[in-house]
Amino acid sequence: MPNPARPYSLLIQNAAQVLTLAGADPAAPLAGAAASAWHRIENGYVACHGDCIAAVGPMHTLNPALVTAATRVLDATGRVVMPGLVECHTHLVFGGHRAPEFERKLRGETYLDILAGGGGILSTVRATRAASEAELLAAAEARLAAFGRYGVTTVEAKSGYGLDRATEQRLVRVARAAGRRWAGRVVPTFLGAHVVPPEFKAAGPRAYVDFLLRDVLAELKGEAAFVDIFCEEGAFPLADSQYYLEQAHKMGFGLKIHAEQLHDLGGCEMAAALGATSIDHCDYLTPAAAGRIVAAAAAAGRRPPVAVLLPLVPLFLRQETYAPGRAFIDAGLPVAVSTDFNPGSCPSQNLWLALSLACLKMGLAPAEAVAAVTRNAAHALGLGHEIGTLAEGFRADILVLNVGSLSEIPYWLGENPVQTVVMGGNVE
Ligand code: NIG
Ligand code: FE
Repeated sequence: MPNPARPYSLLIQNAAQVLTLAGADPAAPLAGAAASAWHRIENGYVACHGDCIAAVGPMHTLNPALVTAATRVLDATGRVVMPGLVECHTHLVFGGHRAPEFERKLRGETYLDILAGGGGILSTVRATRAASEAELLAAAEARLAAFGRYGVTTVEAKSGYGLDRATEQRLVRVARAAGRRWAGRVVPTFLGAHVVPPEFKAAGPRAYVDFLLRDVLAELKGEAAFVDIFCEEGAFPLADSQYYLEQAHKMGFGLKIHAEQLHDLGGCEMAAALGATSIDHCDYLTPAAAGRIVAAAAAAGRRPPVAVLLPLVPLFLRQETYAPGRAFIDAGLPVAVSTDFNPGSCPSQNLWLALSLACLKMGLAPAEAVAAVTRNAAHALGLGHEIGTLAEGFRADILVLNVGSLSEIPYWLGENPVQTVVMGGNVE
């Protein structure tokens, strides 16, 4: 006799729309026409076994035998149900804030001017070095709780405000500890190559990345999933960025890059050629270069990277140039959207606002923007097979929203539409 099927531990039923994000090749992020052609279900349900999704479908396909007294049932009548948000680019762990610099920016100083004068990232480095590990952990935990209230169930967390061995390692440790104490998931990235610290000013960027490779990175194997670098004027030149990423790749790290944020230095194409998982910012990446990245990846027999778009950053830095997301998608380059939460260029954790701005300033359709903060963002972390989609076997990270349709999601500008957050099968 076969065992009777296990009853569901959690059932979310009667949803006006279930945005599954399923469809096309599940192993790949969505681009081109597929970016908006994923599967929606009218009047649907999502059922879970523990921390996993067991079944998703229209209500008439629900097996009532699996709904017992042991099943927790949530009613989503009139509401949208979708995957938990994936925040694939944040600088979660830092000390202090930069409100005084915000005032200087409002008076006309630029981001790079302030950095060149020893402020900007370097002022957060001073505050972060001065903070204790307990203070950094408490701040990171409070920020994760805030992300959770926005329906974010996975957060990438970069180091990069230590720029010395002990502090950089502390930042990775704090990100991991904060993740263990949170119901969602934290993915640590090593961004020791954020800018050249004062101690290496005379020696220069190559000497600094050599120090990271020799003295810091080896101890972070298994601790940080990705290595990232800020390729930009005033940060790291293209040649040093390439050298550093090549070496990190040889050490077994996944690759990311901050590139084409303020100038077109060719960082995105360089990192894509090395097999980077994501290329981030891309405000100055041209549609032609995006097309070359897609073609080169196809010729090499691999998937192109996910372009992580960060529309709150040009808004906050008072810049008019936003990444041409529409053209990227049309060229076949998959896009994700994230806040870039950090104290300098985006002191906001509101990924819903970033999603709306991606529609308003980068030309994404609502369905593309929803894919960009779920399934494609999961692929930007190499986790597209586990999170970001509502389908059997995926992690039970699920949102119930206070809106009745997909088109309302980017419409309620700056509002938080989250009614209920489920993380790993637990109703938070
Ligand atoms: O992604 N561009 C470089 N790094 C961050 C900003 C960090 C800061 O200003 O503190 C970013 O925008
Ligand atoms: Fe960033």
